[in-house]
Amino acid sequence: MTALPAWIGLLLALPGPGLAQPAASTPSLDVLHWWTSASERRAADQLRTVLATAGVQWNDAAIPGGGGMAAVKVLKSRVLLGDPPDVAQLIGSTLTEWADVGLVLPLNAVATRQKWSQTLFPTVLSLVSYKGDVIAAPLGVHRINTLLYNRHLLQQLGLRPPHSWAEFEGVARAVSAAGLKPLAWSDEAWQIATVFESLLLSEAGPALYQEMIQQRKSAAWLDPRVEKALLRLRWLRSLSGPGSDGPAERAWTLSARELMDGSAAMMIMGDWARGELMAWGASPYTDFGCVVVPGTEHMHLYSVDTLAMLVNARHPVALQEKMAETLSALPTQLAYNRIKGSVPVRRDLSAAARNGLDGCARDSWDTFAAPGSARVPSLAHRMAADEATKDAVAQALWRYLTDPRMDAQEAQKRLAAVIHLP
Ligand code: BGC
Repeated sequence: MTALPAWIGLLLALPGPGLAQPAASTPSLDVLHWWTSASERRAADQLRTVLATAGVQWNDAAIPGGGGMAAVKVLKSRVLLGDPPDVAQLIGSTLTEWADVGLVLPLNAVATRQKWSQTLFPTVLSLVSYKGDVIAAPLGVHRINTLLYNRHLLQQLGLRPPHSWAEFEGVARAVSAAGLKPLAWSDEAWQIATVFESLLLSEAGPALYQEMIQQRKSAAWLDPRVEKALLRLRWLRSLSGPGSDGPAERAWTLSARELMDGSAAMMIMGDWARGELMAWGASPYTDFGCVVVPGTEHMHLYSVDTLAMLVNARHPVALQEKMAETLSALPTQLAYNRIKGSVPVRRDLSAAARNGLDGCARDSWDTFAAPGSARVPSLAHRMAADEATKDAVAQALWRYLTDPRMDAQEAQKRLAAVIHLP
């Protein structure tokens, strides 16, 4: 663990402005996160209930905003004010950035007690391990390369869910001909990036994706397959109809709502959208279904949700360890992930527990578990690059999509420049 820089040490020693001291009888932890949609809220409430039984009170500090854009900023300002929360939803590279400045509490004792090296998926354990320390409690694995569809609508039109881009085009044509929207869409930069990385994986395959995203080789971004992915991105956007000002920037929950009420037939989004449909009462067996984004079979483009325990002036270490322990327990994992739309981070599910997952979740868990699958980290959800790079890529994609004068090759050059390692 890197030594605490002097400025952070000073800040942490000061009593912060929001330091509410919980009553001794109800030991509580202040949790900063961005789960504010219906399913996210329910999933967080489920954790709150389980933790209460374990004697830990969850004080909610939720910051609305899909993909955590606002929450990450609020966390930064709380740290600068000397008042870090006790627990924060830090994921992927943001986790290691904060660990580097000594803000994250190592959870090595919990990991040893709970045998995380045997019970967690190795990919998950390595994601929460840094410089010899375990630095977060993992909650669930989301699959980004998910294509959701409205079962009723496809059945009415006599269509089958698409398994190739040719089939996808066929479904899109038929849905358009029926006067409906083939694909729900939002122009929010993080949502564009979320769709794009699935298209990129589909065109480029895991090897080139790795060169582009994990190794950050600029030249790889100039590959003709990237141009194809960019052209497909533009085409997908055009499916949501011209509108007066083109597609809008709006919350992912509004797109999920279109899918739910049948005004759109399909949606490409991380499987948290599945959780949302279920929270609204839709069934994965009768109302909606999911397949992987065409061309990404046996690939799992993942985003793993994690909660980090932060170092602060309150030092509630025993409570933080209790929380981490409770979150990784099998019953918590099963109950939470069923609501959230993700799958457990544990590889030791019994056959009954695995069979109890719905089809979409089972395919996600099986693919993540299978030795032969490609487990690929999401760029848009911080698994593969730092916050600034992720934002710069999302902005470059947004510019390309919203400026019809920019062609795909120009966008490739811009992306190659953005991804370049200093
Ligand atoms: C998180 C999910 C969350 C989604 C939408 C993702 O980055 O991993 O837990 O539901 O953003 O807010």
